[in-house]
Amino acid sequence: MTRTYIAPNFQGTLFRNPPMSETAKLILDGKEYELPVVVGSENEKAIDITKLRDITGYVTLDSGYKNTGATKSNITFLDGETGILWYRGYPIEQIAEYATFLEVAYLLIYGELPTEKELNYFTSSIRNHTLVHEDMKRFYEAYPTGAHPMGVLSSMIASMSTFYPESLNPNRPFKDIELTMHRLMAKMPTLAAQAHKVSIGHPIMYPKNSYSYTENFLHMMFALPTFDYEVDPVVDDALNKLLILHADHEQNCSTSTVRMVGSSQSNLYSSISAGIAALWGPLHGGANQAVIEMLERIKADGGDVAKWVAKAKDKNDSFRLMGFGHRVYKNFDPRAKIIKKACDDVLNKLGIHDPVLDIAKQLEEVALKDEYFVERKLYPNVDFYSGIIYRAIGIPTEMFTVMFALGRLPGWIAQWKEMIEQGEPIGRPRQIYTGANLRDYVPLAKRG
Ligand code: CMC
Repeated sequence: MTRTYIAPNFQGTLFRNPPMSETAKLILDGKEYELPVVVGSENEKAIDITKLRDITGYVTLDSGYKNTGATKSNITFLDGETGILWYRGYPIEQIAEYATFLEVAYLLIYGELPTEKELNYFTSSIRNHTLVHEDMKRFYEAYPTGAHPMGVLSSMIASMSTFYPESLNPNRPFKDIELTMHRLMAKMPTLAAQAHKVSIGHPIMYPKNSYSYTENFLHMMFALPTFDYEVDPVVDDALNKLLILHADHEQNCSTSTVRMVGSSQSNLYSSISAGIAALWGPLHGGANQAVIEMLERIKADGGDVAKWVAKAKDKNDSFRLMGFGHRVYKNFDPRAKIIKKACDDVLNKLGIHDPVLDIAKQLEEVALKDEYFVERKLYPNVDFYSGIIYRAIGIPTEMFTVMFALGRLPGWIAQWKEMIEQGEPIGRPRQIYTGANLRDYVPLAKRG
C-alpha cells in the first residue's frame, strides 16, 4: 500500500544503526544462527528476531510481552532501574515544573517544543474545536443513570468517527490527519465533563473558549447554569501537572493497544477509543480509582494497615495493594515522586485534611519496610497519589481514570502517528498451540 501521510516539522532523533559487530548467536538443533542486535540512543539493546521464524522455524514465547520490544520509538525514554522518564529527551521533572500541558502535547505529537507562533496555532486550533456536535448529546439519553464515565467516554470517542467520516482513512495528507488530532484534543475534555454531568443528572455545560485548556475543563466539570465556578490557580496548576505526568509512558497496555488497533489501518478515533478501554482496567489506569476505593475500605474496616498489608502478601488472597508495583519501574516511579510533593502542596494550600491520606501514608511506610515488597521491588506508583489530589480538587472517584485518559491522549496520538509514519505492519502475534490434536467430529446423538 502506498502511504501519502506526510508529517511536517518532525525532527525526532533517528535510531542508530546497530554496529555491524553486534550480533547475537543462537544455537538451535545443533545449528548456529546470527541475529542482529539493535542499539537504542540510550544504549538499550534488543535482539532483532524479525526473521527468526523464517530462518529457524521457531517463534519466541513471551506472555505479557515482558521482554519484547514491539517497536522502535523516539517519543519517550524510560529506565525502570534508575527511575528515569523523558519526553523527547526532556526529563519529566523539568517538564512537570515549567511546561503547560498543551506545550507538552505539542512536543509529543510534533517532536519538538513549540515556538510561540507554533503554540499559538496549536492552542487556537484546539480552542476552535471544543464544541461537540449537538447530535452526540442524544447518545447520553441512552446511557443508564450512573453509567461509568470510562464506558461512556470510550463509546463517545468511537462515535466521533461517524461524525467525521473523512477520518476513516488514516493515509491522508498530514493537514487532514492533524485536524483529527486537534479535534480529539479539543473535544475529549468536553466529552469527559459531559459524561460526568450526565452521570449525576446535571445539565451539560458548554465550553468557554476564553479559558485555558485546564480552566475550561474545570469549568465544564463544576460550573452550573446557576453557578459560576471560579477556578482556583492551585487547582489549575495541580491539574496541569497531573495531565503532564500522564501524557506518555512508552509501550504500555493502552498505548500498545492504540498502536495495535491502528496497525490494521483503523482510524484514529477508534484506536483512541480502544486505548481508553485498555486503560480502564485496575491493573493499568483504573488503579487510581482502585487506590481510593482500597483506602476507603481500609478506613471503614478500622484502619488496621498491617492487616491489609498481610492480605496483600497472602498468596491465597486475591487482594493486592493497589498503587504499588510497576511493570518497568523497579526502583521508584519518578512520576510518583513529583506527584507526592504536589499532593502535599495541594492539600496544604487548600487546607484539606483527608483521613484517607493518613492511611495512604501509613500504608506506604509499612509496605516500604516490609521484606515482601522490598524483595519484589514494589514501590508506590503514579496512581497511589493521583487519586488523592483528584479527590482534593473535587473530582469524583469514577472520573479518576477519565482524568488519566485526558492526560494520556497526546501520548496515544503521538504513538499512533509514529506507527503510521514508520509504516509498521499489522500487529499479529504468534502462539504456541496447546489444544487437542486432530480428531473426528462426533455427532450429538453419540456424545452420551
Ligand atoms: N500487591 C501485592 N503483591 C504484588 C503487587 C501488589 N500491588 N504487585 C506485584 N505483586 C507481586 C506479585 O504477586 C508477584 O509476586 P510473586 O513473585 O511472589 O508471584 C510479584 O510481585 C511480581 O508481580 P507481577 O504481577 O508478576 O508483576 P507485573 O510486572 O506483571 O505487574 C502490576 C505489574 C502494575 C500490574 C502489578 O504490580 C500490580 O498489579 N499492581 C497493582 C495495580 C497498580 O497499581 N497498577 C498501576 C500501574 S501504574 C499506572 C500505569 O502506568 O498503568
